[in-house]
Amino acid sequence: MNVFFAGAVFGSLFFSAGLLSQTKPSLPVKVEPMSATPAMIERGRVLYVANCIRCHNKDPNVKGSIGPEVVDAPMAVMYSKVMTGKYPDPLPAGFVPKRKSRAMQAIPKLKADIPVIWAYVQSVKKKK
Ligand code: HEC
Repeated sequence: MNVFFAGAVFGSLFFSAGLLSQTKPSLPVKVEPMSATPAMIERGRVLYVANCIRCHNKDPNVKGSIGPEVVDAPMAVMYSKVMTGKYPDPLPAGFVPKRKSRAMQAIPKLKADIPVIWAYVQSVKKKK
């Protein structure tokens, strides 16, 4: 994990959090501009493996048994999916949901950890 990239991940996270505060549901976790440390990325990885790969792929770039690849979802989308099971309404500009199904269930206990899960997923995202 290079530091510049970590800064970029959390820079855009802060930016999304700003956008989110104008929409519902708002982002209740306070997100400060900061770098994702290797420990945070590792925590995100552990939580992803523990909670998401039942349906999504172990590799977030690839579709899983039930759920699609998650690397293209902005923070606002991941937040909404994990907190409500649904895509946000309205959708972030330019984002196209991978599926029209409504099979994902909310896992709201992960609320405070969504930023590190998102940061982990972005840290392994392959450029197309
Ligand atoms: C019960 C199976 C299941 C679990 C567990 C699950 N998901 Fe999903 N997820 C789905 C399905 C299916 C979709 C496709 C839309 C739908 O049907 O809800 C989806 C869609 C998504 C999307 C939107 C992807 C896109 O680009 O359209 C994100 C982001 C996401 N899930 C993140 C997560 C995260 C993070 C976790 C773990 C904290 C998780 N999911 C756990 C089934 C699951």
